[in-house]
Parts: sequence; structure tokens; C-alpha cells
Amino acid sequence: MNNKPIGIFDSGLGGLTVMAEVIKLLPHEDIIYFGDTARVPYGSKSQEVVEIFSMQIAEFLKKKKVKLIVVACNTASAFALNHLRNKLDIPVIGVIDPGAKTAVSTTKNRRIGIIGTHGTIKSKSYEKAINKIDNKNAIYSQSCPLFVPLVEEGWLNGKITEEIAKKYLKNFKTNKIDTLILGCTHYPLLKNTIAGIVGKGVKLVDSARSTAIETVEALGEYNFENCKKTNGSYQFYVSDSPEKFEKIGRMFLGKKLCKVIKINIEG
Ligand code: DGL
Repeated sequence: MNNKPIGIFDSGLGGLTVMAEVIKLLPHEDIIYFGDTARVPYGSKSQEVVEIFSMQIAEFLKKKKVKLIVVACNTASAFALNHLRNKLDIPVIGVIDPGAKTAVSTTKNRRIGIIGTHGTIKSKSYEKAINKIDNKNAIYSQSCPLFVPLVEEGWLNGKITEEIAKKYLKNFKTNKIDTLILGCTHYPLLKNTIAGIVGKGVKLVDSARSTAIETVEALGEYNFENCKKTNGSYQFYVSDSPEKFEKIGRMFLGKKLCKVIKINIEG
């Protein structure tokens, strides 16, 4: 297993923020990334549909002989993680548990906020994951559906983005949270705008880093680490618009993407 690649997938570009953190901690691992750009967003879709899409992607990654899958999408983690774990014979890591763990260890006043897509917030997955660790926290959640298209457009700051963010985030001031989970893979790109509104006293938890740490731990646990000394190689697949993915993906990954290949994930 050791020389095989890690598979990472998301509904689109957002999961590249998770991939960036995995590369930092595991520079020798090969990675195959899939972005479901033809069917994004997942955040407004039902659990049944997200489960079907996630399974199709996992089957594609399995054919590419990955040794572990990182579900680098909050909505797919919220809706399909258990399903994937039941069906697959390789380890599957989601972004919700790592984010919840970091939030619980970060909060001092035990008042935690969560923002995410409609699907993630409706699933209450973060609440469940937090309560499993420690059920003495007050938890406040808010879906922010317009954040994803704003990021996709590259509108990371400016008046319009700020006004929208103010509207979504206004209750967190009254609720006196000291920790806010960025429960969507796109939101780390809005960190500056979000921090400016919720204030310096609120710690922003980005599950990308904690998910990468969990990936390191899982590889260790299964003895799946790649022991080669050279840097890992990366392959990118999408279900539509490879040129757009390549162009905007740079913003998410923090470096240029090599060739992006379009595939038919349904067939
Ligand atoms: N990647 C999704 C998430 O983290 C956001 C985009 C979408 O709605 O598909 O929830």
C-alpha cells in the first residue's frame, strides 16, 4: 500500500485548501484529487444524492488504487462519510470530526459557532461531533450559502462580500462565541473578511489543517506511509471545465496546478 497515492475529493475547488495542508505535512505522498465541478454545489442537495455522487467518486479513486480517501468536502462528510466507510475497504477520513476536535480544544468560554452550507448545517453533524467529545458547549450555527459563489468569483473582500458576511454573522456577536468553525472548504479564503466582522477575540477553526493531521495519523496507524525521499506527484481530475479549475485552483492550492483532466464520473 505504501507507494500508492492518497485520494482526495470535493464537490469542486474547495478541497484544494485541504490538499494544500496535506502536502505541507506529507510532502512525499502522491495525491489524486477529484473535483466534481459538473455537479457542484453539493451544499443545496439532499443526503441521498450526495451519497450517490460520493460513492461514484470513491469508486473512481479506488480504480486509481488509492490507499486512503480524504473527503475534503464538509457537505459530503456530513452526508456520506458513514456510507463510504461501510462500503469501502480502505480508510476514509472526513473533515467534520477533525474540525470539531480542534474547536473543542480551542474554546475557552465553551461557546462555539459553526458556519457551513445548508446541507452541513441541516445535518447537525458538527453539533453531534462536538457533543461526542464534550457536551457542555453552547453551539450556534448559521448556513452561509452565498459564500461559495462569492469565493468562486474571487470576491474575497470588498463591500458586497462584507455586507453579506455581516448579515450572516451578526448573531454570533450576541451569542458571545469565542470560536467559529469554518465548516465549508471555501470559507478559509474568506478568513480576513470573517475575522474583521466577528472580531479578534474569536478564533477561526479551519478544518483543513486538522484533517491533514488526522491523515498523517491514519497513515501511521495503518503503516501506509510512503517512504520515498522525493516529492510527491499530483494528478487532478474534474467532471467539467478543467481550464477554469486550473485557473482558479491556484488560489485554493497556493501553487500552480499541473494538467487537469476531465472525466465522466457517471459512466
Ligand atoms: N465543498 C463544499 C463544502 O465544503 C462547498 C461547496 C458545495 O456546496 O458543494 O461543504
